[in-house]
Amino acid sequence: MPVRLFLSSGDLVADRRFDFARDLQLKGDLVAAADLLLQAIELAPGFASAWFTLGGIRERLGERDAAIAAFLKARAADSDDRHGASLRLMLIGAETLSGMPPAYVRALFDQYAPKFETALVDDLGYRGPALLFKAVLAARAAVRKPAFFKRAIDLGCGTGLAATAFAREVDHFTGIDLSPRMIERARATGLYAELEVAEMLEGLRSKPDAGADLILAADAFVYLADLAPVLCEARRVLPAGGLVAFTVETHGGDGVILGEGLRYAHGANYVRDLLKAAGLALSRLEELSARNEDNTPVPGLVVVAAKG
Ligand SMILES: C[S@@+](CC[C@H](N)C(=O)[O-])C[C@H]1O[C@@H](n2cnc3c(N)ncnc32)[C@H](O)[C@@H]1O
Repeated sequence: MPVRLFLSSGDLVADRRFDFARDLQLKGDLVAAADLLLQAIELAPGFASAWFTLGGIRERLGERDAAIAAFLKARAADSDDRHGASLRLMLIGAETLSGMPPAYVRALFDQYAPKFETALVDDLGYRGPALLFKAVLAARAAVRKPAFFKRAIDLGCGTGLAATAFAREVDHFTGIDLSPRMIERARATGLYAELEVAEMLEGLRSKPDAGADLILAADAFVYLADLAPVLCEARRVLPAGGLVAFTVETHGGDGVILGEGLRYAHGANYVRDLLKAAGLALSRLEELSARNEDNTPVPGLVVVAAKG
């Protein structure tokens, strides 16, 4: 994953103490690292990166309450929450499950963009777009319709891997992504007629009724806790017979959880119920993994649904 986010405190000495603290942390001397971070914070009380790092160290030291306090300070110091302190608070059980801070997603993928494809495809065996492609072809074959789409929208398009997989079957591709750096890469593929830096739900809301006959989300709904709004909006944007196809990570239980990797996992029944509530008919729901972690396939679902 990407290098960790660093937001300067604006105080040179505090920043230097932070650097030393990180060295100590990497060497495994967590107590000394925490001490040095506190010294940095003394100089710059609104030093979000120091608070956030301290939260992680305190967690590793088993100091739950102190970790929570540090993550709360990190979020207070950077109200956009670019470090994703909210997610750490959810994971630690201090806060209930909620959405990801958009600024966190943007910062994460802006940093990740230059090495995204090598990291994901080569290191994690990413296969989301290929799985979606096969599932969409099968869903179309089942209703004896050609797998050709005039207008497709790629939600969380990233660098454009889904458009690459579907290039020959789509006339006009629109890509939507929160990260400007990922969008730059997508633009370089030349595969998108339109690209928008936007939150995916907001981007979909700006589209006309029946404005796209295919909506894709490859490895992007893992960053959305609640899929209901985006699926309802997808239904509005599709014409009758139009498809929405997406991958999610999943888990054996009900509902939605946040995994250790800070990605949401959606239960299969949760997905089925939401599709039904959104007025979308399930065409395919397959238990297939889109990527590996530690060389093990991460449990996932590949889903295709149609507007009736
Ligand atoms: C793991 S990447 C997958 C990219 C691409 N779909 C692919 O298959 O290679 C997830 C992408 O979703 C984007 N993303 C996450 N949450 C988003 C949101 N709420 N709105 C728009 N884009 C989002 C990220 O910026 C990132 O580029």
